[in-house]
Amino acid sequence: MAERFATEVKNLSEEQAAAELAELAAEIARHDERYHAEDNPEISDAEYDALRRRNLAIEQRFPDLVREDSPSRRVGYVALDKFEKVTHPIPMLSLENAFNDDDVKAFAERIRRFLSLDANASLRLTAEPKIDGLSLSLRYENGRLVTAATRGDGTVGENVTENAKTIADIPNVLAGEDIPEIVEIRGEVYMGHSAFLSLNERMAAEGKPTYVNPRNTAAGSLRQLDSAITATRPLNFFAYAWGEMSAMPRTTQMGMVEWMQEAGFRINPLMKRFDDVDTLLEHYRAIEKTRPELEYDIDGVVYKVDDLALQERLGLKARVPRWAIAHKFAAEKAWTILHAIDIQVGRTGALSPVARLEPVTVGGVVVTNATLHNEDYIKGVGSKGEVLRDGKDIRVGDHVMIQRAGDVIPQILDVDLEKRPDNAKPFSFPETCPACGSHAVRDINLKTGKTDSVRRCTGGLVCPAQAVEQLKHFVSRGALDIDGLGDKQVEAFYESGRIADAADIFTIRERDARSLKRLKDVEGWGETSAAKLFDAIDARRNADFYRFLFGLGIRHVGEQTAKDLARHYGDVETFNNAMAALAANDSEAREDLIGVDGIGETVTQALTEFFAESRNVDVWQRLLQKADPKPVEQAASDSPVAGKTVVFTGSLERMTRDEAKAMAERLGAKVSGSVSGKTDLLVAGPGAGSKLKKASELGVDTVDEDGWFQLIGRD
Ligand code: IVH
Repeated sequence: MAERFATEVKNLSEEQAAAELAELAAEIARHDERYHAEDNPEISDAEYDALRRRNLAIEQRFPDLVREDSPSRRVGYVALDKFEKVTHPIPMLSLENAFNDDDVKAFAERIRRFLSLDANASLRLTAEPKIDGLSLSLRYENGRLVTAATRGDGTVGENVTENAKTIADIPNVLAGEDIPEIVEIRGEVYMGHSAFLSLNERMAAEGKPTYVNPRNTAAGSLRQLDSAITATRPLNFFAYAWGEMSAMPRTTQMGMVEWMQEAGFRINPLMKRFDDVDTLLEHYRAIEKTRPELEYDIDGVVYKVDDLALQERLGLKARVPRWAIAHKFAAEKAWTILHAIDIQVGRTGALSPVARLEPVTVGGVVVTNATLHNEDYIKGVGSKGEVLRDGKDIRVGDHVMIQRAGDVIPQILDVDLEKRPDNAKPFSFPETCPACGSHAVRDINLKTGKTDSVRRCTGGLVCPAQAVEQLKHFVSRGALDIDGLGDKQVEAFYESGRIADAADIFTIRERDARSLKRLKDVEGWGETSAAKLFDAIDARRNADFYRFLFGLGIRHVGEQTAKDLARHYGDVETFNNAMAALAANDSEAREDLIGVDGIGETVTQALTEFFAESRNVDVWQRLLQKADPKPVEQAASDSPVAGKTVVFTGSLERMTRDEAKAMAERLGAKVSGSVSGKTDLLVAGPGAGSKLKKASELGVDTVDEDGWFQLIGRD
């Protein structure tokens, strides 16, 4: 088969392409006939698939040559109303970033420490380009593609199977022997530069809006509801990772990627493996050098621990694996003019200065705004007193250098004093809130005695800007995620008095029914859209518990911490009892919470302050009268330690403490730092002291390290 397609599609002349398409049309039709009508195929599924993919690839390069009798016209493209949701059996992870060599060295050191590898033991890492596209998970059952899903929030994505089938790099059937029953291949969908340029030319010729960059185009193309449109967009796919696998065909990262190639995927040719960090970094520089010549966009190099057994031991922290990191390329920069500095008031009252800029293109994207961080940053003094930009302050009218890196908000790096207008004045940062007029102050950090770099409005929920931002947060994607209730609607509802706080959202339908100004009569709304919104709100009354916790907007409680809290307490009732105890300064409740992995002192303090404030408790209680957060299902319920609270103490010999914690959590256990009445199991290594004593006083089950491995069946 490889010989047969000796000429790569990109090297075919138009004439050759036309001839091959004619041949393929006849050949595929013959195989279809034998397969369907005669039930007597003469080639394997994988060979058949390769023919179809070749046909598709040629058609995508030469859209004008698509024949009337083309096999691609016969697949019957599907148009959908919307994409179904797909839950990933294994979440799709993100990567931690490294911005320089030191970050990479620290990454390797962290791994050595975690695994307690000694200094001269080699640590093998792979290095491969980080493709700037969008990730896709392909599920094969018995070798056949059954689902293609986008990443979504990492847990739930969208079902784009019909569209994925139009990508020539994605096999419908896996090639080779001994394919595991379940295979999930993950990788990046992207659009090559030449395809991007010709698509934009075509769009412009048809008078349609053009795309900004290949990444957005790839995303837009993959998320077309009509797969016939996706089929006209030449997308590519590199395979580099996996999700659920019923069996692992190889034991290393490199081995797995090579196996994917054997199974019929394209893999990135620049992927290599290294035994030391210095040569790894040389490869980074080599990739950076070839970057301008590549046919696709890349934004860094990803390093991964090669040995899969080590990957397993390293496990995850929050949403990123400990065994991988993305080394990003230096950010792109440009000079432009600063026209104005606006102050925005955030959910927690923080006053954030935003730079309004003369639009400028940086790395293919037009930038009009940049963050100025805080007032010290504008003055040229960092939060720790360090001098920034050689002490140059930033003034309206200045020529400024901006930097944009990946998805982060652009920032101002430098000022050209020679071009500063004569009348430019130092910026005077407001000391009152621009939204409500309350004092805006910089707190003093009690621990360090230092002045906070952020100035905050003291108006609390009296401040309309804070209230609105809090409401937007409550309905946002990571929190309640209410369809049809976006920033615009929240602002309008707040303005018109329809909602003042989060609890009001769940009574909006009943109040609307009694109201003189019904939502359906408001401009821009109608009977159907109003009913649809109310239904969407009703549908979220039982959303996951952590979404409510995250939505409350408690300081330091991000999405991951909300998940940790929800998992620790399980349901609202247990949580509320603990919070009441915490607000009443109960020391046991405090100790219990500080001990939860991922929580600690800062979060405990923030929760205490939040639940000691009666206005917050009032909103939360009113909310709970109308909503019923879904309790947490216990993870890995078949594990013998699922749902148990485990404490590790003493020195461990077969695993490091971090590793022990990560392993227990993977098995669905809660890991705590202190022994209490709630502890189910103490794992005590040699040298265990007070915790062991306390455990025996309380009658807590205790095992040694070997006992732990026996218990979890890993002996
Ligand atoms: S590995 C567990 N490898 O980068 C590891 N990701 O910032 C999962 N990406 O969502 C990712 N090229 O979309 C990996 N060679 C590569 C990649 C890559 C691009 C994307 C991917 C992921 C994001 C994380």
